[in-house]
Amino acid sequence: MNNLLHTGSGAIEAALRQSLTREVATAPPKLAEAIQYAVFPGGARIRPRLCVAVADACGRGSLATALTAAVPIEFLHCGSLVHDDMPCFDDADRRRGRPSVHAAYGEAMALLVGDALITSAFSAAANGDFGDDGLALFVVRTLGVAAGPSRGLIAGQAWELEKHAAIDRVHAAKTGALFRAACMLGAAVGGGDPSDFIVMGDLMGSIYQVADDLADALASSEETGKPSGQDARFDRPSLVREAGIEHARAHLHRLSDDLVQAIPSCRGARDLRGTVLELLAPIVALSGSHPRKMAASS
Ligand code: IPE
Ligand code: IPE
Ligand code: MG
Ligand code: MG
Repeated sequence: MNNLLHTGSGAIEAALRQSLTREVATAPPKLAEAIQYAVFPGGARIRPRLCVAVADACGRGSLATALTAAVPIEFLHCGSLVHDDMPCFDDADRRRGRPSVHAAYGEAMALLVGDALITSAFSAAANGDFGDDGLALFVVRTLGVAAGPSRGLIAGQAWELEKHAAIDRVHAAKTGALFRAACMLGAAVGGGDPSDFIVMGDLMGSIYQVADDLADALASSEETGKPSGQDARFDRPSLVREAGIEHARAHLHRLSDDLVQAIPSCRGARDLRGTVLELLAPIVALSGSHPRKMAASS
């Protein structure tokens, strides 16, 4: 399998486009257009890239199968962002450097786009060719947990609306769940043991959200492509708000050290360690943290 980080991010775009085209084939035209707008052009595509990198590191399975698992994860992610930006949540009128979906297409359409991307994730997974019904069922189940109301991103969004939610719990659900799924599904399609990759996925999610909280407080909206200062504006749980910038940065460094130790032993462990650090580098840079320890440990 190719190392997608360097050679094949075009393959992820192609797989997303092919799958989405199938999902919206006979959709009402405005809805189809707004769904495409929510997915293309994308952001960092970190979750599908992570999924493929883990599959690659586990050493078995084809690139096509890894992409089939990676695509629905990105659909869930893109759908969650559409809903997250809506006026009833974060009221964010920009995403990825341009008007967010409700700003471009209206709230009613944005609601449907988010719904459509969530349902399309399951449809794409269920119709995907995994060459093994047991594996296909595992993919669908894992996506269900990652999206769902108990431990998934929907739980995470709802924890933000509760008073006194523990920050780790919020992060683990709203962000960690999809990173965990990306790692577990990558392992499953690559012939590894998904449970070996849970800790790594959770740490990736924690690092990503702590860095995003720092970026929300410190980076400009030009740099992030989305409104800044949202956590303070909406009184949202954030490690920066709870413990301050220096504490959040120190925590980020500790988590990064833990992540390096948490890469499971597998055929491509060494490359995988380099890849995950490279995947995290842009958000860590936006957080204003120096990835000194991350680089030193790699
Ligand atoms: C944004 O995720 C939401 C968070 C969990 C912080 P990304 O930063 O991965 O968004 P895109 O897909 O690259 O725009
Ligand atoms: C978004 O979290 C997480 C989900 C959509 C589940 P945030 O609200 O913190 O992320 P941004 O800053 O809008 O990307
Ligand atoms: Mg939010
Ligand atoms: Mg938001």
